[in-house]
Amino acid sequence: MKQTKHRFQPKFLLHGADYNYEQWLDYPDILAEDFRLMQEAHCNVMNVGIFAWAMLEPAEGLYQFDWLDRLLDSLHGNGIQAILATPSGAKPPWMSQAYPEIRRVDEYGRREPHRQRHNHCPTSPVYRQKVRQINTLLAERYGAHPALLMWHVSNEYNAHGCHCDLCYAAFREWLRNRYGSLDALNHAWWTTFWSHRYTDWSQIEPVDISIHGLMLDWQRFNSDQVLDFFLAEIEPLRASTPEVPLTTNFMRPDVGLDYWRFAEHVDVVAWDSYPRWHSQPEEWPVGVETAFYHDLHRSYKKQPFLLMESTPSVTNWQGISRPKKPNMHLLSAMQAVAHGADGVQYFQWRQSRGGEEKFHGAVVSHINGRHTRVFQDVQNVGACLAQLSPATAVSPQAEVALLYDFQNEWALQLAQLQRSEEKLYQERCIAHYQSFWQMGIPVDLISSAATDLSPYRLIIAPMLYMLRDGIAERLETFVRQGGTLILTYLSGLVDTSDLCFIGSSPLRPLLGLWVEQTDVLFAHDVQTMALEADNELGLTGSYPVTHYADIVHMETAVPVARYGHDYYAGQAALTVNQLGDGCCYYIAGRPDGRFLLDFYAALGKKLGLARTLQAPLPLGVTAQRRRHSDQATLFLMNFHSGSQIIELDSDVYTDAMTQEQLNGRVELEPFGVCVLYPDRKESLQ
Ligand code: GLA
Ligand code: ZN
Repeated sequence: MKQTKHRFQPKFLLHGADYNYEQWLDYPDILAEDFRLMQEAHCNVMNVGIFAWAMLEPAEGLYQFDWLDRLLDSLHGNGIQAILATPSGAKPPWMSQAYPEIRRVDEYGRREPHRQRHNHCPTSPVYRQKVRQINTLLAERYGAHPALLMWHVSNEYNAHGCHCDLCYAAFREWLRNRYGSLDALNHAWWTTFWSHRYTDWSQIEPVDISIHGLMLDWQRFNSDQVLDFFLAEIEPLRASTPEVPLTTNFMRPDVGLDYWRFAEHVDVVAWDSYPRWHSQPEEWPVGVETAFYHDLHRSYKKQPFLLMESTPSVTNWQGISRPKKPNMHLLSAMQAVAHGADGVQYFQWRQSRGGEEKFHGAVVSHINGRHTRVFQDVQNVGACLAQLSPATAVSPQAEVALLYDFQNEWALQLAQLQRSEEKLYQERCIAHYQSFWQMGIPVDLISSAATDLSPYRLIIAPMLYMLRDGIAERLETFVRQGGTLILTYLSGLVDTSDLCFIGSSPLRPLLGLWVEQTDVLFAHDVQTMALEADNELGLTGSYPVTHYADIVHMETAVPVARYGHDYYAGQAALTVNQLGDGCCYYIAGRPDGRFLLDFYAALGKKLGLARTLQAPLPLGVTAQRRRHSDQATLFLMNFHSGSQIIELDSDVYTDAMTQEQLNGRVELEPFGVCVLYPDRKESLQ
């Protein structure tokens, strides 16, 4: 992984929020109260200037920085650092009016009116120029300001695409570079299908969902183009402030960006997390999903990340958003830290008075400052984070990696299969991850481009439909050298161009079998996998199979479980193939969570995978760890709505919050969290 040179290493854990000071310039009492309350809430950082372009440049070329001067000075005076944003996430109306080309065009050729945000054309030279100007001024003016901690570049970039002439020209250029000739492109996209052969580059328009290669490349281009825009945005920042680290806030993986590539260009990964707490009968599946995304963000650079936004209470865009129950706020904040966050921040400090987000939760509500449960919860998190300083902790090297690949996901989304409903790529990755969360075994996420697989003993690659160049070979080397690999149904079907493999899938030597057909199941269909007697994992019984069931021809693989129903009853449903010093399992049918937990528990035992705690964890509880210098930190988290008892290993521990010494067992209250330092230095390394 390429590392940027401006590595961010905070001296303490960050605690703060998005602060829209510019919305309150006419309310001096409120501004004065804000700084008082920030101190009381133990905030040490604020994200400022996001969406402030109209206040920074009220008319073209007319700048007003006095309010931002005052803001940064006041923050500094109060011992609070600033993560200063560049304002490109939203453009002022005068600019949209004067330069229509900066507004995105939809797939029907309609240019968007001025509205909303995050909707500029990523190619427009005018917008790039305007961004360069304002960023240059910000960098020159504030680069040496003592409050400046880091740049917050733009806000939540997305790659949903713009269909303007400028973007199309850039896309065709990108294709020329990729394919060299139209003949190569026509072959890669299989355009003879439905008479789509292109005879001139100008005929290519990315609106044809029948040509999957075209649409996949369009998504790749959009991702690259937004990254290119970002690289142009940061040029003036790098030039004037080479020592100031920079970041941008990522989101969950559904915005069309390949964050594996993007992450190489930020100094620290930051992301915005809005779990839907209390939206399900059981809380812990939301905990698992959130843990997966935290680990994904830690894994992008294999470094600590920042939780740049989270709500201190509720959102107003999720349909239904319940206030957090007692303990939940601390638990969700500590969960981020447990998985590698060096800071916990909120959207937003103060509830805005008007506009779309006036009812979004905030640390300080419309009606009251400090006398709310939310404010006290935030204060409590601030106090706990201060106890955990200094930060700069790393997470332990995981022995398990789960392959999660954006380009595979895009290709899979485009694919029209026998069963296109509920492909659920992300959800299935999370289902596999869940077993390890339940066992307290750390997991790294990796992409198809990962080159160094040697740190891992177990790699799981669910639904690896598209084999990007080199990944099959790298996985094979991993297995031959002693690794254990898990592959599943819907894998190894197409190459990087989304062309189907013919003759044989490159996975065949790994799997020791080939797939003849996939049965797909309706909700009422019954299928099972029954474990072979005396199988090498010691598993017994039978488990349900749903959605997909591959029917396979065994070559060198041996069955571990067999299907129980229908015309392929008795055929292999789970196999293992020895290859070199390692082996590859194939889960041919979609299993449930109970199977995955039993399967990975058995595999964990066979491989001797280290667990954070030896004793089994109760339902809804996980244990994670971090370490800085010679101090290990153990996080115990209860995502269950009842109290749970956790058996500790034989060490003596010190509670990081209360400084009490304890051993034996810990009782966690509903949604309780406990942070422990083991007294033995060498434990939990
Ligand atoms: C996003 C944005 C913020 C705000 C929040 C609301 O994360 O970055 O500006 O709109 O959502 O949840
Ligand atoms: Zn455009």
